[in-house]
Amino acid sequence: MALSIIILAAGEGSRMRSHLPKVLHRLAGIPLLGHVMRTSRRLAAAHIVVVYGHGGEHVREAFPEEAVTWVEQAERLGTGHAVEQALPHVSPDDTVLVLYGDVPLIAESTLRQLITKVDDHSLALLTARLDDPSGYGRIVRDDQGSVIRIVEDKDATEAERAIAEINTGILAIKAELLASCLATVTNDNAQGEYYLTDIIAKAVEKGVSVLTASPGNLDEIMGVNNRAQLAELERSFQLAQARELLTSGVTLRDPARFDLRGSLTAGRDVEIDVNVIFEGEVTLGDRVRIGANTIICNTRIGDDVVIQPHCIIDGAEIGHGCQLGPFARIRPETVCHERARIGNFVEVKKSIIGQGSKINHLSYVGDSSVGRNVNIGAGTITCNYDGANKHHTEIGDDVFIGSDSQLIAPVKVGDGATIGAGSTITRDVPAQELTLSRASQQTIRGWKRPAKE
Ligand code: UD1
Ligand code: CA
Repeated sequence: MALSIIILAAGEGSRMRSHLPKVLHRLAGIPLLGHVMRTSRRLAAAHIVVVYGHGGEHVREAFPEEAVTWVEQAERLGTGHAVEQALPHVSPDDTVLVLYGDVPLIAESTLRQLITKVDDHSLALLTARLDDPSGYGRIVRDDQGSVIRIVEDKDATEAERAIAEINTGILAIKAELLASCLATVTNDNAQGEYYLTDIIAKAVEKGVSVLTASPGNLDEIMGVNNRAQLAELERSFQLAQARELLTSGVTLRDPARFDLRGSLTAGRDVEIDVNVIFEGEVTLGDRVRIGANTIICNTRIGDDVVIQPHCIIDGAEIGHGCQLGPFARIRPETVCHERARIGNFVEVKKSIIGQGSKINHLSYVGDSSVGRNVNIGAGTITCNYDGANKHHTEIGDDVFIGSDSQLIAPVKVGDGATIGAGSTITRDVPAQELTLSRASQQTIRGWKRPAKE
């Protein structure tokens, strides 16, 4: 039997006070709806139908790659109405799982538990017991403890409001049963809405039993209605990721000051100081040490690399034993081979830095290939841009470039060449020779500074 997932995402999210639709706000770098889609994909659903409303076009455009069916709910008439819009895209004998686009952390394992309870005679509800159940629909059970209906907070009696077991909103049910129950739901209630929750009583009338499951932890069922809730959920998600890394053997100086917006693979005995942010896919080798206040994005880092504080590394490959920073900026398509050193206030873009080469201070190296054991002095600049096009700089092995030199690309520097400090290099430099371009020093004897009149 196939699984269809209906994701409700038509909410306005007015409490976010944002031009961006709520489900596009990001948690750990991914839109809220993206989290739900990712979990849905893991369940290998035959169909995923997303019901969108307000700002819907932006929501669709944010997921151009997703193989989902988009259904517009033009008028927001309630959760029952929203699900009804999606039903034509679901096969009658599918099991339908209803998820919310603004409940991002629902776990795959919890959902699997729920789905397995469903058959022709049973539907499954995800419920939870809360210390403060106010605002939620309450689960009403009979004397035998069987679920008989859900009552919404606004429609509940005093006694019903005292029930601690709440409806998370997430449920699984056979499509045919869902359709037949929904067909008779009315909007005769406090909010004048078609409640999805009303199908429970209808199903019970038909002799269907209502089974329940509960989430592994309460973050799984938390919805995002405002930015405070988003921030809270972000921190608890980050803490959970941090704990997982600690368990796997990574040292985090402070798990509360750690952010992973993507995925991190780390070797043995990795040490990460405070306020380090990882984005996209990052791989760290064994014994990597990362200093405070560093951002690393889509990068592979080899064994024994030391990254001093305050570095920004994006789209790079850093070989074994390299040392970076403090205050280094490594931009996309940079490859640093083994034991290279990139020091403070150095920017490297789209360049290959050879084994053991050093760029230790205040330099810009862009669109360049640098050989092995090269020493690039402080203040060296590869002038790669002529105002219209970018040009390449090629530096051979064992080159020594004196401080404050400019290499006007396109230009080649031969193996073993030495460039005198303060040179502006406009033509290719021969191997093994000293090349410099520098006005010779002179002294004007007896010269006097002008005096103020
Ligand atoms: C709903 C449940 C309630 C449950 C609570 C859990 C109903 C009637 N009530 O209440 O039992 O405890 O969720 O958070 O289902 N949506 C649409 N179209 C609509 C209405 C809602 O797409 O016309 C979407 C919203 O974007 C949201 C979700 O459905 O993602 C839930 O809607 P919301 O209005 O927040 O429902 P609650 O009143 O909180
Ligand atoms: Ca809600």
